[in-house]
Amino acid sequence: MSTVRQEKIREHYDTVADIYDSHYDCVRGRSYHNHISGYVMETLPKNGRLLDIGCGTGLFVEKYMEGGRDVTGLDISRRMIERARRRCPECGFTIGTGDNLPFRDDSFDAVSSLLVFSYLKNPEFMLAEAHRVLKPGGKIAICTLGKKLLTRGIPVLYHISEKIKVKHVVMKNFGEHYYDEREMQELFSGAGFENIGIRWCSFAHINMIDPLFNLASKLEPFVEKRVPQMTYNICVSGEKTDGKK
Ligand SMILES: C[S@@+](CC[C@H](N)C(=O)[O-])C[C@H]1O[C@@H](n2cnc3c(N)ncnc32)[C@H](O)[C@@H]1O
Repeated sequence: MSTVRQEKIREHYDTVADIYDSHYDCVRGRSYHNHISGYVMETLPKNGRLLDIGCGTGLFVEKYMEGGRDVTGLDISRRMIERARRRCPECGFTIGTGDNLPFRDDSFDAVSSLLVFSYLKNPEFMLAEAHRVLKPGGKIAICTLGKKLLTRGIPVLYHISEKIKVKHVVMKNFGEHYYDEREMQELFSGAGFENIGIRWCSFAHINMIDPLFNLASKLEPFVEKRVPQMTYNICVSGEKTDGKK
């Protein structure tokens, strides 16, 4: 069922679909997106059928399908899906919401979702759906803004940008929610996932000016390893086991 909040998100992404790639598909954006995609990719199977929830313009779909893998993208925004279809004409795309997936039980080997989870009003519904459509042995991996020092001010920033009508691809007040490790652990295990892995990543931010971004990128491996409290994206993976011990 579509909510007011979901409608607002859909309308926003319909409006920014044409400029989305100028943000994420330029030099800094690519570097940022490649970085988080690497984290997601690492925990997913190398072969099989993948569903990308909130696929947007297909940035992750394009990366995962290299080597001829079978990928399906789903997004609530028709305009984002149109862009994704243009980017990856050989992949399947569907308009829909992550909490009500139009796919059969046990039909995917992997589910991914990048930069979407914080938008979900009821993330447990999306996780239950992901669990349902995964085959036994299938894996899920998501990456999203997490609850950390650097994300504390974001809701206020987004609220102000909406008030002063900034047209930005992500800066809008959608009542986003950021989770910490414990909350993620509970959400994923509550949906039935096992072998849950949680890692923090990202220090270089796409909105930094070039010299700062370059410096932060150089420091990123050190920060991720030694000072994870200064990172801001949380990556969570899990497995749908066959229930047998
Ligand atoms: C920040 S963009 C990320 C797009 C893409 N995953 C990427 O990495 O570039 C967020 C996307 O999530 C989609 N989205 C938000 N809520 C959704 C939901 N409940 N179901 C499906 N897609 C959703 C938006 O339409 C938008 O395309």
